[in-house]
Amino acid sequence: MKQRTIANLQVGAIGLGGMPMSIEGRPDPQRSIDTIVAALEAGVTLIDTADAYHIHADEVGHNETLIAQALATWGGDASQVLVATKGGHQRPGDGSWTVNGDPAYLKQAAEASLKRLGVDAIGLYQFHRPDPKVPYEDSVGAIRDLLDEGKIRLAGISNANPDQIRQAQQILGGRLASVQNRFSPVFRSSEPELRLCDELGIAFLPWSPLGGIGRAGQLGEQFQNYADIGERHGVSPQQVALAWMLAKSPHVIPIPGASRPESIRDSVRAADLQLTSDELVDLG
Ligand SMILES: NC(=O)c1ccc[n+]([C@@H]2O[C@H](COP(=O)([O-])OP(=O)(O)OC[C@H]3O[C@@H](n4cnc5c(N)ncnc54)[C@H](OP(=O)(O)O)[C@@H]3O)[C@@H](O)[C@H]2O)c1
Repeated sequence: MKQRTIANLQVGAIGLGGMPMSIEGRPDPQRSIDTIVAALEAGVTLIDTADAYHIHADEVGHNETLIAQALATWGGDASQVLVATKGGHQRPGDGSWTVNGDPAYLKQAAEASLKRLGVDAIGLYQFHRPDPKVPYEDSVGAIRDLLDEGKIRLAGISNANPDQIRQAQQILGGRLASVQNRFSPVFRSSEPELRLCDELGIAFLPWSPLGGIGRAGQLGEQFQNYADIGERHGVSPQQVALAWMLAKSPHVIPIPGASRPESIRDSVRAADLQLTSDELVDLG
């Protein structure tokens, strides 16, 4: 697969999002392990997760645990795989998502993720979402401390606006490795953040790049031009969407979610799909 970089690390241009394997509608654990292994076999070296990818209150880190299990059973070199997790969201078990950006909480959440992943240091740790009750500099300050202590190798933020990206870059002393925001053909309002990351040389990881769980399959029905261009190349509209965002900047690394091996195998092929400039203009 074509490679991209996050800070000084090379990763495949298409990553895997772990959320569909652990939240409402998730498959049985074996299908999830098969999906992660299929991704690894297809050349995926970036897997995105979060401690909050679970359903019930007593299974925090459900997705991190699955990823650790899959990496342990896979015959390949797990040291080449960047597992990117997050802290700052919580799921109390009633279907809701809450935020907690308290620095002490974030530090203990990172410790717990580290143990579940079974590593000495987390590859990439991302502050999941700003908490309106906690000053942003305090939450990002906790991420900086984790970096300084060697508990995490790279630091990222998620759901951030341009001011927060600049602020985080300053708090981290120029060590902000990635920004993860929602971006897809359906949801384009993170274009300014994508452009800023491009300018600053920071990796931009579009979340829900296919429009989100339960909607990704209908992308070609929603956008006829994605279906038409896909047909011309003999590929899925989902591949066209991923290739379209890859073409926006060399710093873009989409993380399509999957809960079936076939989905991620298809998505990975987008890394090698070359769209023409006319097609890119048409896709917008
Ligand atoms: N930072 C944040 O706040 C945040 C928020 C949401 C998500 N995320 C991250 O971003 C990742 C991606 O977002 P998402 O999972 O919400 O949405 P998504 O990637 O837009 O859509 C996921 C769905 O797409 C389907 N799919 C994947 N590849 C496909 C293909 N080539 N053709 C047809 N269908 C395909 C999968 O179906 P199957 O399940 O049938 O395989 C999956 O359920 C998440 O998994 C998570 O890691 C982060």
